[in-house]
Amino acid sequence: MDINSFAGSFSQALDRRRPLLERLEAEGTDCCRLFHGIAEGLPGLTVDRYGPLLLAQTFRDCLSPSETEALEATLRKALPGAPAFVYNHRGKKAAESFDQWHRPAPAALQEFTCREGGLKYLIKARHRGIDPWLFLDLRAGRRAVRAASAGASVLNLFAYTCGVGVCAAAGGAAEVWNVDFSQSGLEVGRRNAALNGVPENKFKLVNEDCLTVVRQLAGLPVAGRYGQKRKYERFARKAFDLVFLDPPAWAKGPLASVDLVRDYPSLFKPAVLAVKPGGRIIAANNSAAVAYEAWVEVLKRCAAKAGRPIKDLRPVPPDADFPSFDGKPPLKVVICEV
Ligand SMILES: C[S@@+](CC[C@H](N)C(=O)[O-])C[C@H]1O[C@@H](n2cnc3c(N)ncnc32)[C@H](O)[C@@H]1O
Repeated sequence: MDINSFAGSFSQALDRRRPLLERLEAEGTDCCRLFHGIAEGLPGLTVDRYGPLLLAQTFRDCLSPSETEALEATLRKALPGAPAFVYNHRGKKAAESFDQWHRPAPAALQEFTCREGGLKYLIKARHRGIDPWLFLDLRAGRRAVRAASAGASVLNLFAYTCGVGVCAAAGGAAEVWNVDFSQSGLEVGRRNAALNGVPENKFKLVNEDCLTVVRQLAGLPVAGRYGQKRKYERFARKAFDLVFLDPPAWAKGPLASVDLVRDYPSLFKPAVLAVKPGGRIIAANNSAAVAYEAWVEVLKRCAAKAGRPIKDLRPVPPDADFPSFDGKPPLKVVICEV
């Protein structure tokens, strides 16, 4: 990495973000993507601020120790006051950063609290998984959920650390169900909810396969992969005022694989059927391989075929800390009334 060119690009990135950073500060947010390399001159490098933590990540080439030091010095100079800096390499040659992963600086294993919209979230740079505990590009989606949750029953599918669920509760939801097959993600979610004073009795954590749960809620049959029998938690049919659907790009599941590119409808159909008539579904697709227009067509066709046509559809673009070089952000979020 050419650190001199990084310093210049980073300073421009900060300048571009000034109006956003002011808005975020006013709304009680201290976490933000400060440098989005793919659109800001250094593909494969990102720098995020999570309250007191500065997290740099590479997705292509791993930085050498001297490059890491130079990066940290540049960031500290531009952002005085950030007490903790962590660098994580997440590319194919992550094994080469063995020392960094296995003898991490104390800051990498320390838990911090950051804030978004006045809500508190736990953050830790290195944990069992690879993703940070709060996805910053979903901030606009969380805002939309919070604005749509007053008095609502909310189903948060693929809940991870329940950032969306906490926003729904803060927006006045009557009840929030958070579904994920990762127990460790839900445990962070439980602690995020507690940090924000969300009452346990209105914040349900369901540690199960999302497809298995949402098909039952929608009144659809649950068949095992290749017909085999397996144990799963049983649920009666139930419809929600708001369903949030944010699956990973691809994941193996006990019923079927989650595959955003080839098969969004297998999730979208039961999710739509789990929405009360006149209710809303907020759907996300983070695959860069899927164009917004084509995806929206798939959603419209799928909802109509399920007998619940989309009456209104609004896009929720990401905030300006996720600029896209072609005007086509990989993360697409839409609010649909069905
Ligand atoms: C893209 S993240 C979802 C992010 C989340 N919506 C948020 O607000 O941060 C993917 C999550 O999906 C979960 N997951 C993947 N496949 C699953 C499945 N079949 N059933 C339940 N959870 C699944 C993973 O455990 C992970 O927590």
